[in-house]
Amino acid sequence: MKKIVTMMLCSGVLFAQSAEKLIEQNGCLSCHAIASKKIAPAFAGIAKRNMRFEGDNAKNVIINSIKNGSKGKYPMFADMKMPSFKNFSKEELSSIADYILAQASKAHCNAKGHGVGKGMQMGRGMR
Ligand code: HEC
Repeated sequence: MKKIVTMMLCSGVLFAQSAEKLIEQNGCLSCHAIASKKIAPAFAGIAKRNMRFEGDNAKNVIINSIKNGSKGKYPMFADMKMPSFKNFSKEELSSIADYILAQASKAHCNAKGHGVGKGMQMGRGMR
């Protein structure tokens, strides 16, 4: 319960739990982390990039990249590609995309870059 409450405070979203589960269960976190670079861009960075360049279209771009894969958008990760995930339902894709977009604030909220499910506490100074 504590975790749910902190997540809500942190990102202002209720759906985070199910999206978080999908992300954990589908191995996204073997390449991605929430707020820090791993072998793929952080979800926080993805959120920011798409909000900046894609505006209202950000969510669609994210959904498409999950469905169809992506390569070459993030020069730092040019050697890697984002595999396609064809099995998510529309609702699941929507919830994952909302979750990723909500991470834009995590760069401050969760400055140390803990992964999903590990120590999602508010950073000091956030209160
Ligand atoms: C094998 C490693 C790997 C896995 C597993 C993986 N990704 Fe990625 N992902 C990447 C890489 C690399 C990129 C950068 C692609 C690029 O530069 O275009 C990326 C990019 C993305 C983007 C940004 C696309 C854009 O258009 O801005 C999203 C969103 C994303 N991944 C979500 C996910 C989700 C959700 C999962 C799990 C369902 C997942 N990824 C699993 C490697 C991975």
